[in-house]
Amino acid sequence: MNIIGKDHEYIAATYARYPLRIVRGKGALAYDEQGNEYIDLGSGIAVNSFGMCDDEWVEAVTKQLKICQHTSNLFYSDPCVLLAERLCCISGMKKVFFSNSGAEANECAIKAARKYAATKYGDERYNIITLKNSFHGRTITTLAATGQETFHTDYQPLTPGFVYVEPGDLDSVEEQAKAGRAAAVMFELIQGEGGVVPLPQEFVGRLADIAVKHDLLLVVDEVQTGCGRTGEYFAYMKYDIIPDIVTLAKGLGGGLPIGATLLGEKVKDVFTPGSHGSTFGGNPVASAGALNILSRIDKKLLDKVKEKSDYIMKELRGAPGVMGVTGMGLMVGIETSKPADEVIRRCREMGVIVIRAKNKVRLLPPLNISEDLLKRAVAVLKAACAE
Ligand SMILES: Cc1ncc(COP(=O)(O)O)c(C=O)c1O
Repeated sequence: MNIIGKDHEYIAATYARYPLRIVRGKGALAYDEQGNEYIDLGSGIAVNSFGMCDDEWVEAVTKQLKICQHTSNLFYSDPCVLLAERLCCISGMKKVFFSNSGAEANECAIKAARKYAATKYGDERYNIITLKNSFHGRTITTLAATGQETFHTDYQPLTPGFVYVEPGDLDSVEEQAKAGRAAAVMFELIQGEGGVVPLPQEFVGRLADIAVKHDLLLVVDEVQTGCGRTGEYFAYMKYDIIPDIVTLAKGLGGGLPIGATLLGEKVKDVFTPGSHGSTFGGNPVASAGALNILSRIDKKLLDKVKEKSDYIMKELRGAPGVMGVTGMGLMVGIETSKPADEVIRRCREMGVIVIRAKNKVRLLPPLNISEDLLKRAVAVLKAACAE
């Protein structure tokens, strides 16, 4: 079957796919149609938290699939309630709205922030401050939130009410807050699509102070950094801040689409029946998979994530052809002396899948990748950078 030809013929050309057809996988290993094996350091862009077809996750998902695949949100349903309880327990947030993707989780965060501000301060306080070089999604509103002009081209007019500031520019945030038109400040703690760039600790701390002082909601987009990726449950725990809203997707579902918007004390009751909704949000099968993922993210796993991260950093920093390494936990960006695409291609030819973030090579391996596979993959990556 000419899948690649049919893909080009029938699928909208939004993706510049790598010339690789993955037909199956197990854990951190993926296979193409000829049976060639690849160590997968991409995890479907931080989605397959425990790799492909992980036994426990498959069992949890299929068990639910055989009980009930969908109810709609007109009815009570166990898996999403248990998942919401678990998310609140881990995060300290108070309530959850479920959706199906990162963009939708962010849409909900924006709606919650605007509703909170509108109810408390009136209709004029609707601006959301976001950071330059950020990425928050592809819908018209989350594109507007995204502080990178390249994504905006040809889609004007975007949703109004977004103001971009440079990371580090606290004066502009304060100015916006004082003007009384801002409802929230929204940011990723590590700008993933922006090139795996962690925000400086001091900036984040002072940003949180300004937010508290002016009652701006602190919205943290943890779509990529959440659910153990950085070596903590959530990256905001590393930064020692208490957000008002946290958004999750990607790794939460372990491979099925789910988004979650965690609402803190200030906004926990902002939504009322009919004020927001989603047909598929909190789907029982996706929720059962997510519950399984969360039940396995514990201190032992998080310590291992940190250990593996230290190993990657130690191996790559200063290695031939490596100009710099950024990131946290198992979210790593590598600046290479050769173009990133060349390194990515060579890695693939040598049986290792790595992906790109801007001009960097990006690693997002499964959280439970074995030391042995990681060692083999890092050796290949080093060879590809050094060639
Ligand atoms: C930080 C962040 N927010 C939002 C999104 C959008 O998520 P989705 O593609 O699931 O809509 C992404 C996707 O890469 C992301 O990295």
